Amino acid sequence: MVHAAELIQRKRDGRELAADELRDLVLEYVGGTVPDYQMAAFCMAVYFRGLSSAETFALTEAMIRSGATIDLHAALGRTVVDKHSTGGVGDKTSLAVGPIVAACGVPFGKMSGRGLGHTGGTLDKLESIPGFRVELATDDFVAQVRDVGLAIIGQSADLVPADKLLYALRDVTATVENVSLIASSIMSKKIAAGADAIVLDVKVGDGAFMKTIDAARELAHEMLALGERAGRRVVCVLTDMDQPLGHAVGNAVEIREVIETLRGFGPADFTELVVEASAHLLVLSDLGVGDADARALAQASIADGGAFAMYERWIRAQGGDPRADALPVAAVVRTITAPEEGHVQALGAIAIGNAALQLGAGRATKEDAIDHAVGVRCLKKRGDYVRHGEPLAEVHARDPASAERAGGDVLGAYTIGANAPHARPIVLETIG
Ligand code: URA
Repeated sequence: MVHAAELIQRKRDGRELAADELRDLVLEYVGGTVPDYQMAAFCMAVYFRGLSSAETFALTEAMIRSGATIDLHAALGRTVVDKHSTGGVGDKTSLAVGPIVAACGVPFGKMSGRGLGHTGGTLDKLESIPGFRVELATDDFVAQVRDVGLAIIGQSADLVPADKLLYALRDVTATVENVSLIASSIMSKKIAAGADAIVLDVKVGDGAFMKTIDAARELAHEMLALGERAGRRVVCVLTDMDQPLGHAVGNAVEIREVIETLRGFGPADFTELVVEASAHLLVLSDLGVGDADARALAQASIADGGAFAMYERWIRAQGGDPRADALPVAAVVRTITAPEEGHVQALGAIAIGNAALQLGAGRATKEDAIDHAVGVRCLKKRGDYVRHGEPLAEVHARDPASAERAGGDVLGAYTIGANAPHARPIVLETIG
């Protein structure tokens, strides 16, 4: 049996642990012989002392070994791609990237999580589509990636059980915000889910885990190193999360925006990120294309209807109704107007995320139910010029009282002033 107290003490004192010690600690924690209180103390020691690259890799390997793994490459005989985001407000990128990449002939297989707090989860967004099934058996997941070219499902319970336990523990012990722990949590799930090539979208700013570009770079480098050591090809894009992505924040409202984007009418920032992430995946795939051709292919799949046709095929394959008209609609839609004339200088991502959460679009605790119809549409974004009384945003609410409350919060998220802010691109940096 592992001497958990001794490992905690060594980490507390800033010393390096061996790979087999970390492996035993994780596997015995999952097996129930190391209790939560010792693992919590270990996480706090890591929070203050950090992990070396070798320790982070050992922790990631141990987490992967705690459960089953999938080998998509062997099952398809092809390079399979995946995309992951560290979480942001209005972030529906994977839902548009998957159909684009698959329409270009590259298989896309993703396992995804639910949202907690002000950032929404991909699964919650998908569940706003009537009939859509997020729970598929692993064999059905693999078969759908092979036969349709695209599947996005809930994280299978037998993959990386160590992360499920550890993440819940970190959530209640103030130990989430550590680069090594975040990197090993994300990469263990990505590696176990079996894709060969992964684009990681590291969000930076007010609405993200990583508040500064330096912190985002550090996380990106950690995840790249873990991917390379596991034989996966990884590219990280660092992207702006000081304001919500696109216009829509919620569930059904975000799915509508995905449909508009796949039809070529999406918001500029969201479309740019979707095309950029898709192009990186096409370059990493087995198509053998370079950057410029990959971008052209991604854009052509939108222009020629291929990406939207793939979206419809994918949604039907998982039991859903792909029509925009089938999505739930909120009972009350209130327009929020500009109280003065000027440039939108800032639009707080976290404030909009919290307004959507209060409306019922997200969950503050794991047990909360979600209202798929509600949310916010930010019609004006940073840099836009507005006249007094012009619509700034729409609040989609279940009743007038919650619309009223959210309206005040949404207005409070906007800073309007005389000067235009500096332009800030959606993709801040690419690493890898
Ligand atoms: N997302 C994850 O999957 N794990 C973390 O630790 C943080 C964000």
